[in-house]
Amino acid sequence: MRIDILTILPSLLESPFNDSIMQRAKDKGLVEIYIHDIRKYSTKKHKNVDDYQYGGGAGMVLSIEPIAACIDALKAERTYDEIIYMTPDGEVLEQSICNQLCLKGNLIILCGHYKGVDERVRQMYITKEISIGSYVLSGGELAAAVLVDAVVRLLPGVLNDETSALTDSFQDNLLSPPVYTRPPVFRGMEVPSVLLSGDFRKINAFREEEALKRTKERRPDLLS
Ligand code: ADE
Repeated sequence: MRIDILTILPSLLESPFNDSIMQRAKDKGLVEIYIHDIRKYSTKKHKNVDDYQYGGGAGMVLSIEPIAACIDALKAERTYDEIIYMTPDGEVLEQSICNQLCLKGNLIILCGHYKGVDERVRQMYITKEISIGSYVLSGGELAAAVLVDAVVRLLPGVLNDETSALTDSFQDNLLSPPVYTRPPVFRGMEVPSVLLSGDFRKINAFREEEALKRTKERRPDLLS
């Protein structure tokens, strides 16, 4: 998979992909991530990338020209399966969207800022608009990092234990059951004895029960 991220704040996206699972995925050649500074595509004297909005009103709007120049340059090299715009008025991100996106080959992700982007960018280029929740961030960069992390960890070979993404919370519309590790007793708090029993039929039944209980308590909406 190849992911091209367009931003006016490239430094915000340096560290999220340089550690742990994301770094390993890149090292293994399972994903290539390129950060593009939109400012480099500005033809203005001071490399401006935003402007006042027509009709008046507070807040600057990202201009279409530098974004179009960057996307056109990328599209001239290869075809993209989706051009995604991170925006609070997009479709709210769910595991099912990540599952679909991890099957794609090439993605562009555009990070918004200020009051947003010129609407014509959305009409001309964007194929998917994604929000990571009903709150407003200062820009789309952190949202893009969340999306990329959630998608890349699903690529085959990224996680050590091939089955572990399949047993994540949400993959079967259930939250994950509680997990424990050593010691068996900590300040009087014991690990449920069934998990120490070695009886895998019982252990699986316990985990299914606990997952269902936890989902009913915390996210009953997932069960409806
Ligand atoms: N940009 C600003 N807020 C956002 C959000 N909640 N999701 C995605 N992109 C955003």
